[in-house]
Amino acid sequence: MLELVKGEIVEKQLISQEQIAARVKELAKEINEQYAGQQITLLGTLVGANIFMSDLAREISLNVQLDFVKVASYGDGTETSGNVELVFPPTLPLAGANVIIVEDIIDSGNTAVFLRDYVAKSGAASVAMCALLNKPSRRLVANLQCEYIGFDVENVFVVGYGLDYAQRYRNLPYIGILNLDNNEVN
Ligand code: IMP
Ligand code: MG
Repeated sequence: MLELVKGEIVEKQLISQEQIAARVKELAKEINEQYAGQQITLLGTLVGANIFMSDLAREISLNVQLDFVKVASYGDGTETSGNVELVFPPTLPLAGANVIIVEDIIDSGNTAVFLRDYVAKSGAASVAMCALLNKPSRRLVANLQCEYIGFDVENVFVVGYGLDYAQRYRNLPYIGILNLDNNEVN
């Protein structure tokens, strides 16, 4: 167990470093096969997806461009605001590109829906989504499409491998469950 802040306990580990690495390789293999001969753009969400995307990109053997967006919906707590806003738009032109949106986790699905729509409206040739984690039990939107999913997780708050709680724990190399029992949301 890891305790960096009093009362904030990370119970390790839900998903180990080795399990993540193996799954990232499998996802990249699927992408390599499905986009064979094409150029793709990986569009990651800051800050959470940056570690996943860095590992994923290095397993992809296609001609790949990397870009990031920053969206706001969560603040520092654990509940979604439902209101998604693009705070930092992509730098690369998306028109005509085969875009794969790379997400750390799909929770309510609000961010995912917003981003798919945004990319489609930008005139991308194709849009797909790759999320490391998925929490289907928390979904607030209907019929969300996500072509590549690393792991489904239960309704627990997870941190590590890019995912934070109040900006902490992003640097854990594994995915752990955060025990919020004694925590104030700050
Ligand atoms: P959505 O729009 O509700 O699907 O929220 C997606 C965003 O919420 C993710 O990109 C994360 O930043 C955050 N989030 C949702 N669940 C968790 C969690 O268990 N741990 C850390 N961040 C989470
Ligand atoms: Mg976050």
